[in-house]
Amino acid sequence: MQEIVLTLPLVDHKLAILRNKETGTKEFREIVKELASFLCYEALRDAKTSEMEIDTPICKTTVKMIDENKYAFVPILRAGISMVDGVLNVMPNAKIGHIGLYRDEETLNPVEYYFRMPKDIALREVLLLDPMLATGGSAVNAITQLKKRGVTKIKFLCIIAAPEGIENVKRNHPDVQIFCTAVDEKLNEKGYIVPGLGDAGDRIFGTR
Ligand code: PRP
Ligand code: URA
Repeated sequence: MQEIVLTLPLVDHKLAILRNKETGTKEFREIVKELASFLCYEALRDAKTSEMEIDTPICKTTVKMIDENKYAFVPILRAGISMVDGVLNVMPNAKIGHIGLYRDEETLNPVEYYFRMPKDIALREVLLLDPMLATGGSAVNAITQLKKRGVTKIKFLCIIAAPEGIENVKRNHPDVQIFCTAVDEKLNEKGYIVPGLGDAGDRIFGTR
């Protein structure tokens, strides 16, 4: 499945601020939240709507609505948390699951430390959230864990993706579509995205 890259002048503008190492925590968080909202709109382009009749102040009319109970947002901790408020702005009644993973600094392999989902997760479409798709190890692991719990429809929303991460997700989970705001050039020898924005978790939480 082909990845979707949001290409809009304002998205490029916001990304430029995110990438700048002088940008502080407050602005960084605000922009990640805003981009997460845009990504959510795009990821739900294929959402099913059902018609219902309502009264406007003027007359009766037929409107189209999405069933929010069919969705769950799942951030990959830590950095994915920064996207939750943005997607909840768009769909406030979706349920939230959490997957805790961190990359081992030597091997770059994901280490699992937390997994908690809504009871009916298998019945919901999952929008998996993480600002960075680097080697793809974390995303592939998170998707595998979700599928083991019976989830059949998953979309992965990230801010910046590396070509290596996109290939990894496509190879292991060809049914999962990736939505991002930029595809960068490559990974460096330490597994960081180039040019990227540095360590997303550290910039969001002010660690290091
Ligand atoms: C970052 C990022 C992703 C992962 C991406 O998390 O938020 O989860 O790295 O890298 P990958 O595609 O090579 O797996 P990190 O491991 O730094 O943990 P943190 O969010 O707790 O800081
Ligand atoms: N995780 C990050 O936070 N940044 C990168 O560039 C790669 C992985």
